[in-house]
Amino acid sequence: MSQAPTKAPKREVFNSRNYFILAAIGSAVGLGNIWRFPYVAFSEGGGAFMVPYLVALLSAGIPLLFFDYAIGHRYRGSAPLAMRRLGGWTEVLGWWQVLVCFVIAIYYAAIVAWAAMYTWFSLSKAWGDDPNTFLFGDFLEVAETPGIGFDFVPQVFIPMIVVWVVTLVIVALGVNKGLAFANLIFMPLLLVMFLILVGQSLFLPGAMEGLNALFTPDWSKLGEVSVWAAAYGQIFFSLSVGFGIMITYSSYLKRRTDLTGSGLVVGFANSSFELLAGIGVFAALGFMAQAAGVGVNEVAGAGIGLAFVAFPTIISQAPLGSLMGVAFFGSLVVAGLTSLMSIMEVVIAGVRDKMGISKPLSVAIVGLPMAIISLVLLSTTTGLYFLDITDEFVNKFGILAGAFASIIIVAWIARKLPTLKRHLDRFSSFPAGIFWMIMVGAIVPIILGVILYNHTVERIQEPYEGYPVALLGVLGWGMAGSLVVGAIVLTLLPWRRPELVEFDEEHNEHEIAARAEGVTQ
Ligand code: ALA
Repeated sequence: MSQAPTKAPKREVFNSRNYFILAAIGSAVGLGNIWRFPYVAFSEGGGAFMVPYLVALLSAGIPLLFFDYAIGHRYRGSAPLAMRRLGGWTEVLGWWQVLVCFVIAIYYAAIVAWAAMYTWFSLSKAWGDDPNTFLFGDFLEVAETPGIGFDFVPQVFIPMIVVWVVTLVIVALGVNKGLAFANLIFMPLLLVMFLILVGQSLFLPGAMEGLNALFTPDWSKLGEVSVWAAAYGQIFFSLSVGFGIMITYSSYLKRRTDLTGSGLVVGFANSSFELLAGIGVFAALGFMAQAAGVGVNEVAGAGIGLAFVAFPTIISQAPLGSLMGVAFFGSLVVAGLTSLMSIMEVVIAGVRDKMGISKPLSVAIVGLPMAIISLVLLSTTTGLYFLDITDEFVNKFGILAGAFASIIIVAWIARKLPTLKRHLDRFSSFPAGIFWMIMVGAIVPIILGVILYNHTVERIQEPYEGYPVALLGVLGWGMAGSLVVGAIVLTLLPWRRPELVEFDEEHNEHEIAARAEGVTQ
């Protein structure tokens, strides 16, 4: 006879699957879509980038979204708890993901705070005639020499406090009253603001030149490994896969749910939003280029410059510019906040499970110190250097290497892919099937392995952006190394409620529910 089923500890659940889908889209659609995608697509081949982008979405993005859903839903825990239940020592992978989120949250909050200030600045076009000097000089007061310093910049410090308070309060309120409710308000707001922005951009003179620049393919780029690395990096960051978010969110799903169906809705909603962002941003850049009498490639700066220098220039020149500014920067704030909440949820849930404490207490003992670290490091004259270097390293090494390690360990060492496939097939409108296993078990690790190898060699040979090697050593390689050590130390710490860790593979409540409801293979 089989042994008695293990009673899973009570866990928060989303009141409806739609709340989960909304929260998952809220997490996916973030700074990565509005700010990062347009310039990555433009600089990595324009229209031709759509090929690696779609290949990355279908070959890795969606399959890994299912992978994260299956782990979170089956093992019902934060990333460390779910990974511990999956294979014991594999808990270390969960802590790695928690620490990656820890680092991302620290700088992500700063960009949301800048966008909040720029929403306000848009009303009066406070940057005057020179948005570049305004950003780096007047607003961020960036130190001339890259390094780590503690000269505070009040106009960054104060909005960052607000961003942190809002985020931590929402996370502390829990899955339904906090995350779901916030997304219920923020997501429609984001859609409205974004449609205003795209609509307005498309009617600007020169908009078509911008779209031509974005979508005219440069096929020669397809032969470059770095373009493929950029596409996979973009998909992982943008879909929020590989860093614990989807494991954590899907652990709050009810038993009977449609995992693969939900994944497709989230994946395609995210990519549609990303394409819309590309169209809106490049239509506006086309206008800016035409006004300046130059080519679009001369005005399409990368990263921070695109959002905080090019856009203010457009806002100053466009009819109804202030409205456009509020729509653009307001979208960044709202999209950024809903993603930041999900990033923080990974950290808070991980600590809550390990220490067996309540969520508000976890927010107090982890969220508050994180907010302080973020304020100390980012609201200073050297904050921009910290952001630039940690973003590069945590994205490429933290997320991609973490995803690579998770697949190798879960699929090839713990050999759990068949179990996860069965779980997906049981709880989905269409089965993941053998195709999914081949993608996750073989194709994705090969692609990620090649990308990571090439990227590591490139970074060793050529220091990122020419920063001083010592600074890269501390904020880049040092940070990556300390994540490894931190993940091992956190794994070795004892669980305050060991009964939480117990998991009976055969008799977990999802299996029982499936059988009781006659949903069998
Ligand atoms: N998925 C989030 C973004 O795109 C993290 O910004």
